[in-house]
Amino acid sequence: MTPAMKNVTKTIVLLPGDGIGPEVIGAAAGILETCAAEFGHRFELPEFPIGGTAIDATGAPLPPETLEACKTADAILLGAVGGPRWDALPLGRRPESGLLALRKGLELYVNLRPIRLLEPLLFISPLKPGRAGRIDLEIVRELAGGIYFGAHGIETVNRNVSPAATDSEERGFDTETYTTGEIERIATFAFGRAESRSRRLTSVDKANVLASSALWRKTVTRLAAGHTGVTVGHMYVDNAAMQLILAPEQFDVLVASNLFGDILSDAAAGLVGSIGLVPSMSCGFGPPLYEPIHGSAPQLAGRDSANPIGAILCASLMLRETFGLAAEAEWIERALDHVLARGFRTADIAEPESSVVGCSALTQLIREEMQASLEQVERYGWGV
Ligand code: IPM
Ligand code: MG
Repeated sequence: MTPAMKNVTKTIVLLPGDGIGPEVIGAAAGILETCAAEFGHRFELPEFPIGGTAIDATGAPLPPETLEACKTADAILLGAVGGPRWDALPLGRRPESGLLALRKGLELYVNLRPIRLLEPLLFISPLKPGRAGRIDLEIVRELAGGIYFGAHGIETVNRNVSPAATDSEERGFDTETYTTGEIERIATFAFGRAESRSRRLTSVDKANVLASSALWRKTVTRLAAGHTGVTVGHMYVDNAAMQLILAPEQFDVLVASNLFGDILSDAAAGLVGSIGLVPSMSCGFGPPLYEPIHGSAPQLAGRDSANPIGAILCASLMLRETFGLAAEAEWIERALDHVLARGFRTADIAEPESSVVGCSALTQLIREEMQASLEQVERYGWGV
């Protein structure tokens, strides 16, 4: 680690959202405040509504003021959206559509999901210790296209049981489309990530069945010729799901469509013990958006028992990837590792001998550890 040489001023728009969103964003904001105070940075943290909370307050899941604030931010930190309170709303007016509109509105076509088994949490992986040995991979999920944004709807059609039948039924449809350009830009990002890591890229598709996947595979294969330092493999999505569980250490960077990336990233989060542990970064043309990959967990909301680690790792990912503050990011991650190694856990990652604490207590412990470790650095220098 090297000490930060610069003081920065940044505006980070907070979108707490629904359920446990406000609790985990409060935790991440606290970590950013400690970071700003200790390193002399200035982080403005204005809050705006999104999701169900925004529907209740304004009638829309993504109010225009929220989108405008995000467009001028240096980065955005979002908690989670959705909940049973809004489940009866039609698709397109639900809390989730606010998140999709935000990703689309900012043209964020990349979603990076780092999946890393934290050293102190080795034994909470559902895999046997021998198999869970080294899980350190990145899922690069396409975020602005595919079946999420293709034509969809529910229409009335004639029931097709017999030629004489006259009654009707409904038909739901969603359309998966990818253009060459959309595939090229996400694959180019994924090649770049692989080049900065172990130089292995696995492209996930269903090219034995889907035309959009056949184009995906053809495009990734063509781009591979320009990235000869990267070993490229292609895997059908069903096999990729199995391989993630059987032999996760074979993966370095995975690149997948919007839907396949969504599904595989929850499966991969299961491998590291809890979906509460995984951050994500979305980027493209607008300001980058950071969000833990977990949902709003309505059953936990308001009980101070949510796991803030996914959101806290979003803060450190933001510092490293968007602001170039690698020392600060590492300092936060080390403090987190220390607190976990001392046995403090939220309920979802508890082991029999753990001290189970709530969201705010775990966050406070991490902030104290950050301060204590910085005092040590001031006394003895970095690198100890
Ligand atoms: C995610 C979530 C979202 C998605 C939902 C909430 C719309 O599952 O970020 O993984 O499907 O992208
Ligand atoms: Mg998901």
